[in-house]
Amino acid sequence: MAGLLEGKVAIITGAGNGLGEAYAKLFAQEGAAVVVNDLGGARDGTGADVSAAQKVVDAIKAAGGRAVANGDDVSTIEGGENILKSALDAFGKVDILVCNAGILRDKTFANTSEADWDAVIKVHLKGTYCCALPVWKWMKDNGGGSMVLTSSTSGLYGNFGQTNYGAAKAGIYGMVRVMAIEGRKYNIRVMGLAPGAYTRMTSDLPGRKGQEPDPLSLPENIAPGVLFMVSDLAADHSGKILGVSSRGVREIKMLETEGFAPGRPYTAEEVAKNAAKVFFPTPESRRVAEVRMAEPTRVG
Ligand code: NAI
Repeated sequence: MAGLLEGKVAIITGAGNGLGEAYAKLFAQEGAAVVVNDLGGARDGTGADVSAAQKVVDAIKAAGGRAVANGDDVSTIEGGENILKSALDAFGKVDILVCNAGILRDKTFANTSEADWDAVIKVHLKGTYCCALPVWKWMKDNGGGSMVLTSSTSGLYGNFGQTNYGAAKAGIYGMVRVMAIEGRKYNIRVMGLAPGAYTRMTSDLPGRKGQEPDPLSLPENIAPGVLFMVSDLAADHSGKILGVSSRGVREIKMLETEGFAPGRPYTAEEVAKNAAKVFFPTPESRRVAEVRMAEPTRVG
């Protein structure tokens, strides 16, 4: 049976470990030729070692697949251009880009240093820009393609101790929304991903340290959701964000309430009085509403 990515060329950044490694192996198994990019540094972004990408390439080749290693840094335009060049030199085109490379420098907001702020924003947010831009320009002139940009619930919902990371990941969400609109006329599909997986990035989080990982949270069990996103199966889902974790695959969406819209000048006090229309119900307000519903209807 033909694989889902037969004849396609995929670039995956940060594919020397964790999630990216699992995507690279699955995409190759499904017939794609893969550029395995990884700077090969530590979790906090220090250091560099191309052997991280090379070992994934060796494993793909040993299994009969096609892959090349690239050790460029995603966070510069020069790096992004070299990554595209690796794909064009080795395979002559690019159909798929997964921006996945990332680092962590968690601190509470009060303790964030400027250096940590800059490093995290640079690798995630600027890195997504630097890799997506050259590929975007190439796809625009060559019939289109598919991109998955990696966001996170830490930015979409918020998470303690991750202002730098959350800001970068919410910024990537904004890129997905805008690029999906602009990509329509070039046949470029752009989707956002909020993964949840047991990797070196998350294995020592509170509550996980020293615990056996849930097998469903291993990167191999997240990769099929991402394969769906880059394959033709996701044809008309540009601009959408999927959460993919041990809980399965689900869309994450920005929503608006009914709102308070009087159609005339209004006061701040009126906004407060109409809080039930302005804000989403909280568990407490829902309970109040349920009690009201349960009250017997008085007739007459
Ligand atoms: P990981 O640490 O196993 O893999 C990230 C890879 O990116 C590493 O191999 C690293 O060397 C590479 N990398 C870092 N900076 C780079 C740079 N400047 N240039 C090229 N490569 C670079 O982490 P994991 O968990 O696989 O994360 C993958 C992506 O998923 C990241 O963007 C992360 O923020 C995101 N994510 C992961 C979650 C999880 O539960 N594991 C949750 C939410 C988001």
